[in-house]
Amino acid sequence: MSKLDELRRRKLAADEGGGAGRTLKHREAGKLLARERVELLLDPGSFVEIGKLVRHQCRDFGMDAQVIDGDGVITGYGTVDGRTVYVFAQDFTVFGGSLSSTNARKICQLMDLATRNGAPIIGLNDSGGARIQEGVLSLGGYADIFLRNTLASGVVPQISAVMGPCAGGAVYSPAITDFVFMVENTSYMFVTGPDVIKTVTHEDVSKETLGGPMTHNSVSGVGHFIAANDEDCLLQIRDLLSYLPSNNHDDPPLRLTTDPWDRDAMELDTLVPEDSSLPYDVKRVLRAVVDDGEFLEVHAHFAGNIVVGFAHMDGHPVGVVANQPAVLAGCLDINSSVKAARFVRFCDAFHIPILTFVDVPGFLPGTDQEFGGIIRHGAKLLYAYCEATVPKITVITRKAYGGAYCVMGSKQVRTDINLAWPTAEIAVMGPEGAVNIIYRRELQEAGNADQVRAAKTAEFRERFANPFIAAEHGFLDDVIEPRHTRRELIRALRALENKADHTPPKRHGNIPL
Ligand code: HXC
Repeated sequence: MSKLDELRRRKLAADEGGGAGRTLKHREAGKLLARERVELLLDPGSFVEIGKLVRHQCRDFGMDAQVIDGDGVITGYGTVDGRTVYVFAQDFTVFGGSLSSTNARKICQLMDLATRNGAPIIGLNDSGGARIQEGVLSLGGYADIFLRNTLASGVVPQISAVMGPCAGGAVYSPAITDFVFMVENTSYMFVTGPDVIKTVTHEDVSKETLGGPMTHNSVSGVGHFIAANDEDCLLQIRDLLSYLPSNNHDDPPLRLTTDPWDRDAMELDTLVPEDSSLPYDVKRVLRAVVDDGEFLEVHAHFAGNIVVGFAHMDGHPVGVVANQPAVLAGCLDINSSVKAARFVRFCDAFHIPILTFVDVPGFLPGTDQEFGGIIRHGAKLLYAYCEATVPKITVITRKAYGGAYCVMGSKQVRTDINLAWPTAEIAVMGPEGAVNIIYRRELQEAGNADQVRAAKTAEFRERFANPFIAAEHGFLDDVIEPRHTRRELIRALRALENKADHTPPKRHGNIPL
């Protein structure tokens, strides 16, 4: 056989992965092949594979008789909407996509290239974990990847899709990355599986309940996005990338829009109910304000009392954080604090301006929250806002009470522009709670306590439940008509385009983890 024929034969064999039988089983499970996934993710014809001829070096357990070019992971680069990305895809048809030391080296080399060249890293995970035959060499391979995930964090966006099994320590690579996608019916993630759990704690739990997509998207918060199938997942990744810069030096990409920058949103004038104890859906505010009503929600199923996601304003990507009065009255709790803190830090790392919409009655009271460490977790969000040096603009639509006022992008956490609607209420606490504390003695002594309470509450509301005191002190830059929110935000964003702000030099801060 000529050398050219030999090359062709080996490349063809690599394309076939684990062979016809395993390919059939894979398809029957409703999954696309690793190579098909890469092709769908990238612009047509743009994929360039590297390391296709890499083979494992294991000689034990009969492995020398089972050698497959590429060794179960496809690595390379290509483009998404014309911008370079680096991608690896584990091939479950080859040794269950398990990670060998050579296979890990391919992934590490790819990550090094991506980091040096300032392009996102996308990992398509589908693996039985550490290659059992290789023992500690495989474990070392994982640690090599974890190190690179950490070093690349904040340098290039890292996106993980879990499209099959992801178990044991292997979960920690996706966990360090910025966004985790999971595919319905085929993916699961757990540190210890159902069998071990049964042995240790005698709990009976299915793989799906323990680590399926909805568990991680709604309960644990490990997953950020859920996809109906492989194709949906890959298209969602492409969409997410359209909001992100390639690296921490690039600007996020512009998206042309015909939506007028000064468009009024009349519906906002009447969106907030007269009775401030009634809910409304903050996503209606967001869609009314951003370009073309398009909002990409992140973590949509987790901690619904805060909404985070990406949108465009006047063509420029922005990150949005908004309390959601329709869920738990928009209170901050442990999960919402952690969710928003991580999002704020992502935006700050990648030059994405942060718009904050505030309607927060405070932190959620209760032993669950206190025992669970709401102090520690709430501090994460506060820290994230204080630390962020990207353009920050806040709009208070209604309540901004207590510590939550400070946390949610107040002027004092170096927010650039602070606006409020006339419906804003800024105070240490709500009128009812405040009256019960400061008039406790009067209320105890009064024969007509209910009447006194009502009168004092009305008086307190009149005095404090408005934006004007904060505006008089300069804590707000303006009180605006709700319908003008879009134009005011875009004006501010334009004015902050060249923002440069600094934090005292340090090795790194010590965010309360
Ligand atoms: C080598 C593996 C493998 C592994 C699967 N295979 N996992 N080979 N190392 N870890 C091989 C199988 O031998 C089989 O080969 C093929 O992949 C498909 O596996 P099946 O079991 O037939 O597939 P399925 O029924 O779909 O089950 C998938 C599975 C199961 C649930 C993932 O294979 C499984 O439980 N594997 C072991 C998982 C595990 O315990 N891994 C180690 C976790 S600890 P053939 O030749 O028959 O096709 C870990 C530590 C990481 O990963 C530490 C980082 C710090």
